[in-house]
Amino acid sequence: MQNDLARILITREQIQKRVKEMADAISATYADRTRGLVIVPVLAGSIIFLADLIRRLPFKMKIGLLTVSSYRGATTKPGSARLVQDLDLDIKDRHVLVVDDILDTGNTLRVVMGLLQKREPASLRMCVLLRKTAKAPKDLVADFVGFDIEDVFVVGYGLDYNDHYRNWPDIGVLRPELYS
Ligand code: XMP
Repeated sequence: MQNDLARILITREQIQKRVKEMADAISATYADRTRGLVIVPVLAGSIIFLADLIRRLPFKMKIGLLTVSSYRGATTKPGSARLVQDLDLDIKDRHVLVVDDILDTGNTLRVVMGLLQKREPASLRMCVLLRKTAKAPKDLVADFVGFDIEDVFVVGYGLDYNDHYRNWPDIGVLRPELYS
């Protein structure tokens, strides 16, 4: 698997350190919300990040699963997002934190945030592990961001190419010849 990577961009140690910092920031933000939080991971890219993050959040929460399919062909081209599986939780008047792996063109999170906002949550925030600085739209503001990265196609730590590489513990840049 490592042979398919051009280079490692973020090591597993760097990820763990940053996830802890993010969890601390999220805990501070929600410290006085006693009714509990609803975490909405955008599947499937966020699964590993989610697992690490929520085990560091020391309060009551529900997890509402939502699956969005981002139609992108080879990698960094924008795709259109389509809801595949909706939440089975009522989020009206609840504090909601959406968790995703990467904010790239923002198409996916724009669809998700728009959909959830209509359901009148008490608050709606967004947490992403990665953000592509050059491409993320300025009007789609993530409340918690792990790493700002350059515009390269990354895999590992939940991020996939054709459903491969999610289990690689570091985040790496895929060798371009594998998808071009
Ligand atoms: P958008 O462009 O809608 O992208 O912000 C959202 C979804 O597309 C996937 N994506 C990537 N997946 N490496 C990946 O493995 C990448 O560099 C990458 N960029 C976007 C991802 O599922 C994300 O939620």
